[in-house]
Amino acid sequence: MLPGLSKAARTDGSYNYTLKTIAASGALLFALLVIYFLHDTQTTASSQIRYPVSESLDTTAPALKETSQIIADLIRQADKQFEILASSESQSLADAAKVYRSRRGRHPPPGFDTWYRFAKESNSLVIESFFDTIYDNLEPHWGVLPQKIRDFASTWPTVVKVRNGEVSRPSGKTNNASLSVYYYSDILNNLPSLPDVTLAINGDDEPRVIVPFDQMIKFMEEAEKSRSEHNAVPLSEIKNTFASQPDLLSVPDELPKTQDYVTGDQGHWNAIVSACRPDDPMHTEPGSTTLQAIPPKHSKHYTKGSTQGYISNYTMARNVCWNPNLRSLHGYFIHPWSGISYTELRPIFTAANIVGVSNDIIIPPPAHWMKDGIYKEAEEKIPWKEKKSATGWWGSATGGNHTADNWWGFHRHRWVQLLNGTTHSMLEKQLEQSPYSSTQELYEIGLDKSNWGKYNFPYPLRELFPDLGGFGKLGLWIGHVANGGFTNMFCSMLEYYESTVGKGPKTCKHTDDYYGLVDTVKADYIMRHKYLPDVDGHGASGRFVGFVRSLSVPIKSTIFTEWHDSRLIPWRHFVPMSPEYQEWYGLLQYFLGYKDEKINIPDHDDMGEKIGRQGSEWTTRAERREDLLVYVHRLILEYARVCADERITMGWVDDLLDKT
Ligand SMILES: *[C@@H]1O[C@H](CO)[C@@H](O)[C@H](O)[C@H]1NC(C)=O
Ligand SMILES: *[C@@H]1O[C@H](CO)[C@@H](O)[C@H](O)[C@H]1NC(C)=O
Ligand SMILES: *[C@@H]1O[C@H](CO)[C@@H](O)[C@H](O)[C@H]1NC(C)=O
Ligand SMILES: *[C@@H]1O[C@H](CO)[C@@H](O)[C@H](O)[C@H]1NC(C)=O
Repeated sequence: MLPGLSKAARTDGSYNYTLKTIAASGALLFALLVIYFLHDTQTTASSQIRYPVSESLDTTAPALKETSQIIADLIRQADKQFEILASSESQSLADAAKVYRSRRGRHPPPGFDTWYRFAKESNSLVIESFFDTIYDNLEPHWGVLPQKIRDFASTWPTVVKVRNGEVSRPSGKTNNASLSVYYYSDILNNLPSLPDVTLAINGDDEPRVIVPFDQMIKFMEEAEKSRSEHNAVPLSEIKNTFASQPDLLSVPDELPKTQDYVTGDQGHWNAIVSACRPDDPMHTEPGSTTLQAIPPKHSKHYTKGSTQGYISNYTMARNVCWNPNLRSLHGYFIHPWSGISYTELRPIFTAANIVGVSNDIIIPPPAHWMKDGIYKEAEEKIPWKEKKSATGWWGSATGGNHTADNWWGFHRHRWVQLLNGTTHSMLEKQLEQSPYSSTQELYEIGLDKSNWGKYNFPYPLRELFPDLGGFGKLGLWIGHVANGGFTNMFCSMLEYYESTVGKGPKTCKHTDDYYGLVDTVKADYIMRHKYLPDVDGHGASGRFVGFVRSLSVPIKSTIFTEWHDSRLIPWRHFVPMSPEYQEWYGLLQYFLGYKDEKINIPDHDDMGEKIGRQGSEWTTRAERREDLLVYVHRLILEYARVCADERITMGWVDDLLDKT
């Protein structure tokens, strides 16, 4: 490995081929290259080293850190972050109100005392930052007239309402049939007394609201003004009550086709681009606005928000505005599944947002509430020592609407190839037999179109993964440690539904040459593996919480954010992975180790066991059904307040009036 080479490979957007660069770079470089090749011949099993010198060389770059060092540091930081989090529990109602005011800049909502008692009775941790998502999502709505927020629900087909403490649904063909409305009604029915409120529920998984950044700024400015007004109201005039709302008897059958209705892949992408901040890389990185990488390959840099590819800032690493290359690497960005959004700020309750992009109001997904969710109750926790030192993933080809001319960029399609040892071996053979000195060359000039499907993932760059990258034995190794594949090709909506009731095919013409269907397996079987990847489907994950609970190590890759994000800490309760999956091999190498006649990389089984145990323990404190209820209760109180005409003078201030 040559440190200098590696750094350059990821920072330089341009792409110069080897010899030119070498000639121009003088004797020092030449010496380094000699060492590089010598090093390679000594440490790899493959007889012929084809791995390239990097695209351009920067000998001033700092040395690369060892993978094990990076991950150890990330784990240590996560442990520290967790200690701070766990020690910030509020010990009394007055304490909770105080923390609320300092974090939110407003008085707590009416009914805060009831909420606090409910949390305590549920034995739920009162840690204010657990509720950050609520405030991130609702804050811009303080910049919208309350009447306008309230009126929206009457235009939406899936709605649940509370009137005089009774939970019910307005009549409507779609509403009557909606399963999510049924589940949310059930959740609300388990909460203590609720104000009148009407929730427009997104019946779909993909988020619906993508507001341009310049408009969000205006809402936030208005919200800031309302906060100052609120804080200027004398305490004696702050009212701890909610007003009643007129009833809503029926809702339409279909989504509103308003002017801001966005559909189609290009329409979506344009909306996404305008939702990013003006100074985000989205607006400056070349190629970020087109679907041009065919076959998709890793960007020539590490994911932003990572340390040499290992995620150090989970928010940034999931954010497409920072990583615009995801345009061609994730199904949602290539061609969303239902693909309907609105660019005006609308109060729609959805289980997941696109990080940095969408503006729905997040509510926990039904899958986290359903008692019988398939991954939910890990029947019996399997002790770490009885689990296989291996990884496995089973699922459908969801996560966007793939078609014959776009599927190879889809993340799940790439993901399943990353589990397939046969494909890796075939690519390694291609490399060995080709005249090309690098996989990049092979991809760009050496592969004809008929092979794109087969090799829709980049063979790992040695620059990214010094130990295993480019060494010629990945296929064997992956075949040995990775298990699983697609259980249903999810070819089209109709075929999918027919296949789930046993009538239609699970296959798909445009991908059948590259994927073999595997049998579905039980959650118990999956949880017999120590490392459990979770990659995106259409939205919120139904399996992640079960994985965290299972004593195995979830390896989580997503562009979505969910209600529990501020309570589950990456590297403490699970291992984060970029949506590019570029560090996949490195993670496996770190946890599982690798050994053959020439290479000996130690495993970190103890670290895996530790993360698995910590995640499992924490779910019993912070991720129970009771905790979900406490979250939704807080959300409803806040939403009811922002919907009220008198919202500026509403709040809970009994502690300041000395009434507690
Ligand atoms: C919805 O269900 C209610 C009763 O639960 C019924 O009165 C109403 O007619 C139904 N509406 C539609 C459009 O089917
Ligand atoms: C992570 O990145 C975001 C930008 O996406 C930034 O605002 C935040 O401060 C970063 N967090 C840390 C801990 O560096
Ligand atoms: C998927 O895309 C195809 C082609 O653009 C389109 O005909 C089909 O309706 C889409 N399916 C869904 C569920 O949107
Ligand atoms: C793995 O790849 C080989 C070669 O492309 C293919 O025949 C096989 O069906 C793949 N297996 C799975 C589970 O997708």
